[in-house]
Amino acid sequence: MQFKRKNRLATKLGMLFLTSIVILESVLFVVLYFGFLNERVRVETDALVARGNSHRDVLENHFDPSTREHVALMESEAETQVVITDEQNHVLSHSNEITTSITHIIKSAEEMRSKGGIIEGDWGSAPFVSTVSPIRSKGEVVGYVYMFLDTGGIRDVRDNLTNQFLIVMGLALFLTVVTIIYLSRIITKPLIHMKEATQKMSSGEHDVFLREDRDDELGELARAIQRLSNDLLRLKNERSDFLASISHELRTPLTYLSGYAEIVKRENLTSEDRKRYLNIIKEESQNLTNLVKDLFDMAKMDQKGFMVEKEKVKLCELIGDVRGKVIPAFENKGISLYTYCDKDIMISVDPERFSQVLLNLLDNALHYSEKGKSVRIEAIHHEEDVKVEVIDEGEGIPAEDLPYIFDRLYRVDKSRSRKYGGSGLGLAIAKEIVEKHHGGISAKSELGKGTTIQIVIPGVEN
Ligand SMILES: Nc1ncnc2c1ncn2[C@@H]1O[C@H](COP(=O)(O)OP(=O)(O)O)[C@@H](O)[C@H]1O
Ligand SMILES: [Mg+2]
Repeated sequence: MQFKRKNRLATKLGMLFLTSIVILESVLFVVLYFGFLNERVRVETDALVARGNSHRDVLENHFDPSTREHVALMESEAETQVVITDEQNHVLSHSNEITTSITHIIKSAEEMRSKGGIIEGDWGSAPFVSTVSPIRSKGEVVGYVYMFLDTGGIRDVRDNLTNQFLIVMGLALFLTVVTIIYLSRIITKPLIHMKEATQKMSSGEHDVFLREDRDDELGELARAIQRLSNDLLRLKNERSDFLASISHELRTPLTYLSGYAEIVKRENLTSEDRKRYLNIIKEESQNLTNLVKDLFDMAKMDQKGFMVEKEKVKLCELIGDVRGKVIPAFENKGISLYTYCDKDIMISVDPERFSQVLLNLLDNALHYSEKGKSVRIEAIHHEEDVKVEVIDEGEGIPAEDLPYIFDRLYRVDKSRSRKYGGSGLGLAIAKEIVEKHHGGISAKSELGKGTTIQIVIPGVEN
């Protein structure tokens, strides 16, 4: 039962194969049976008529006993038979024994007799195919030549055809069985393996291993499923890593909070110290709020239905707005902020989210640069696209860390980042947003010299 259920596809294909062969064969058989056989009968009866006529021609010239006997003698050696009668249908000569069926045919030939032709053409049930030719002398009918052909020969041919049809049918059945076995080995087996693998995957098992060495579509499918399984495994690992990091990230500020709260409770504290500790508590809770906000943003973007609401925006204006927001912080730290923007650049973005990207980048540039340095925002046309760069002269990023800075929670220097309230999510969020706009983001950096973050997004016509 199990075998049957599992190989349903092979059985279906096999049956399809069998049905098409049977249909094809039946059509062929019908065509052969009726076409070939009828043609054969026609040729044989025509020959029979012609033979009868030629006997008749001889007998019209010499309707004497010796010629009749001679004709009868000739026919006795042939497959056909002849019966010669007078005009009253009395038998004068015959080549073979006259059976009742022959007598019967001669009697039933009345209509055909005067014209001559086929008396009995039904080879299927009658024992003979027969013809008649009238013998005339001086315009008067003096007798008849009856010709008979045994239908056994034709029926033999028919039986042969039927036998061959049955043999081919048996062969088709055999081929079908072979096909079903072949199909179930070649096609259904790997399919079943793949089905089992996907079932395993959906039930949470990830040690899926499929044979992928075939170079056909099934091999491709197996490779795709294997890739899917590997991706799932990677995602699962990433998720648990991420959760572990998150809980760590949350624990640190919470430890500070409860620690400093404990200290503040002490009574022998100068009011200055108390103020200092309360400030730390305030900062840490601010950090925590930022982290939770960033996490919330990430979670929102991970959702399938997350949509950016794009509109046509003048990039230079957007950059101006962002600059307005951050300039107090830059002035506060003594860092100059310059902007350059090609005139009339239009982009299609969600303005709020795209501003957030720039704010995140400027935030980094500000925090990783020292007093007296400068930061530049440049926005220029770049072929069909628009290129926006945030360039700083800050501390730079070590080459070995550069590939990971867009990863979630990745920070080159954890304590440094923490100090200013960084969560390690700023660049990850920026990357997600840029990609949602069908753009790309990348970083170049030289340690001690500065960092450039580059965004390329599709431009739009004015
Ligand atoms: N302009 C920059 N200069 C130097 N390092 C940077 C700069 N931007 C990002 N980084 C590094 O990349 C890390 C990830 O950045 P980000 O995702 O914004 O997290 P963070 O919350 O730490 O700012 C930072 O911790 C920092 O080490
Ligand atoms: Mg940051």
